[in-house]
Amino acid sequence: MQTIRNLNDLRTARAKLTGTVAIVPTMGALHAGHLALVAAARERADHVVATIFVNPMQFGPNEDLARYPRQEAADAALLESAGVAILWLPDVATMYPKGFATKVSVSGLGDVLDGAARPGHFDGVATVVAKLFGQVRPDRAYFGEKDWQQLAVIRRMAIDLNLGIEITGVPTEREGDGLARSSRNVYLSAAEREAALVLPQALKAAVAAIEGGAEIGRELASAGAKLVGAGFVIDYIELVDDQLLPVATLTREARLLGAAKMGTTRLIDNFAVSPT
Ligand code: PAJ
Repeated sequence: MQTIRNLNDLRTARAKLTGTVAIVPTMGALHAGHLALVAAARERADHVVATIFVNPMQFGPNEDLARYPRQEAADAALLESAGVAILWLPDVATMYPKGFATKVSVSGLGDVLDGAARPGHFDGVATVVAKLFGQVRPDRAYFGEKDWQQLAVIRRMAIDLNLGIEITGVPTEREGDGLARSSRNVYLSAAEREAALVLPQALKAAVAAIEGGAEIGRELASAGAKLVGAGFVIDYIELVDDQLLPVATLTREARLLGAAKMGTTRLIDNFAVSPT
């Protein structure tokens, strides 16, 4: 694996890769979820380029940019043994040089849910991913279903900007007890970690009830009550369609999304909901 920090070196190394190239963008602090993306990418492409960049543009002023976990050496070792060809590690000056003025904004999909709770977040995500795509010029790109809205925003961007990059979503990797793996789980105290399990549990119970014909509004409220009971402060719990718009009646596959704060840690999760 080549570890590259300079854009000219990246261009040179990229030009030498023959066959198909897949990109796996990350912010580091890697776990089994990220490695599942690398494994999926390796299956369908000749070379995998992984990127690590903690993107200031997608963090709000009161968010966790400064304390976001950084563990570059351990991440590099994991990516190397996962078979990554190039690790691209740009710094902030490379990504946002003086005078940087362009923003990629996916309206609608980027404004609701997490976009409403975190204004500007998806502009930051779409902009940095567009830049990473431009730098690496991949044929395919892999993103986790854990960040369901992010996946929808990037799919839209790739279509709208005719990027010609195939976007693939990879199912959520979970801890043994069902909590979605996240770089932010390390923020949780032991007690918070235990209580955090209520997020997937409450969402899954609502999925089962809604699939069984229960009233959607009532089940969302009941999941909300469980989260509050566990000590969460809820951002949203919503059943949405493929445009991320609320679903009132289950006629086709929908997605149940939840975001809530446990102490200072914001967690998200989501599950498919299928009509029977
Ligand atoms: P990060 O949170 O590091 O996640 C990188 C990729 O890993 C994303 O596509 C995310 O959805 C995926 N991922 C995270 N946890 C996962 C899990 N438990 N199972 C499966 N996939 C998982 O998402 C970002 O970084 C950034 O917004 C980024 C796209 C890199 C742009 O800065």
